[in-house]
Amino acid sequence: MTPSVATSSAALTPATQVALVDALVEQGWYVGNGVIDLGLCEALNSEVLHRAVYNGLDEAGIGRGQQHLLRKDIRGDAIHWLDRESVAQRRYLEAMSELQQALNHALFLGLFEYEAHFAHYPPGAFYQRHLDSFRGRANRVISTVGYLTPDWPSDGGGEMVIYHPDDPSQEVARVVPEAGTFACFLSEKIPHEVLPTRCPRTSIAGWFRRNASLGGVLDPAR
Ligand code: OGA
Ligand code: MN
Repeated sequence: MTPSVATSSAALTPATQVALVDALVEQGWYVGNGVIDLGLCEALNSEVLHRAVYNGLDEAGIGRGQQHLLRKDIRGDAIHWLDRESVAQRRYLEAMSELQQALNHALFLGLFEYEAHFAHYPPGAFYQRHLDSFRGRANRVISTVGYLTPDWPSDGGGEMVIYHPDDPSQEVARVVPEAGTFACFLSEKIPHEVLPTRCPRTSIAGWFRRNASLGGVLDPAR
């Protein structure tokens, strides 16, 4: 089958956008299966796998700007920031731009920017439990994860575990990283982790951001 990426719309359906907004308001997180067009996932997956093979990825770190540290004991993925280089990237970013408008319209969040990177977790890699943003520091407001690997096996591991915002010992969801699945959550509130994967695991992690300077201190985008 030829990926239909050039012709079909990548946007989330209106029904998905409504369900997503409701879930964010009610519980702080949303997960949907079959949300991202599979032809688009296939094109994005090929792009990140090609980079993984030809050394086109950077080791992921923790912290931003000058506090950036490489810590394989905390996270083991390799990344590439989306740069609009391919049609597939531009279609994904267009879908996120529409989602941004829907979120701003429904929730008055004042989101003004979106940053995202491909992630490739080799077998054995994981990402320990964390928050994507700390109140008063960075300005990531809403996190998104789009999964790209087709036919994820039931014993493949690599699930993203979502924990309760008020009780981080309570697991509330386990997300299988299957192509088409899309997750979205409040960056400051929802603890989450990636369990060790047994298969190469590909995704796009992204963040809607608010104003980049806080008290005169510029918050670096990455
Ligand atoms: C992240 C992250 C989750 C995932 O990159 O901050 O939590 O399932 N990713 O890839
Ligand atoms: Mn995260």
